Amino acid sequence: MPEWVAAAQVGEIADGESKLVVVNDSDVAVYNLGGEYFAIEDLCTHDGGEISTGWVDGDRAVCPRHFAEFSIRTGEALKAPAYEGVHSFPVRVREGTVEVGDDRDD
Ligand code: FES
Repeated sequence: MPEWVAAAQVGEIADGESKLVVVNDSDVAVYNLGGEYFAIEDLCTHDGGEISTGWVDGDRAVCPRHFAEFSIRTGEALKAPAYEGVHSFPVRVREGTVEVGDDRDD
């Protein structure tokens, strides 16, 4: 079972926007895509850029440093210069709070 961490209130993150939260010492970007929430690690696998400081293109997050693209839904790397995906965290909504689950092993 993941450990669930409160990340935002429903309505706090506008559609197509993100919020940076810290989950057990890791930066995590929580995105709202049309009322669905997703969370990916906010650390570009190309060269450590903060993906959440870039922009959203459909369901892709674009790293502002060299324009790699990641799937907001799965964390998959979709465009060079990133070839390795970022961790995608489970998200749930409980009583108006968006929660991120830390399902990593350690
Ligand atoms: S650090 Fe993200 S594309 Fe280079």
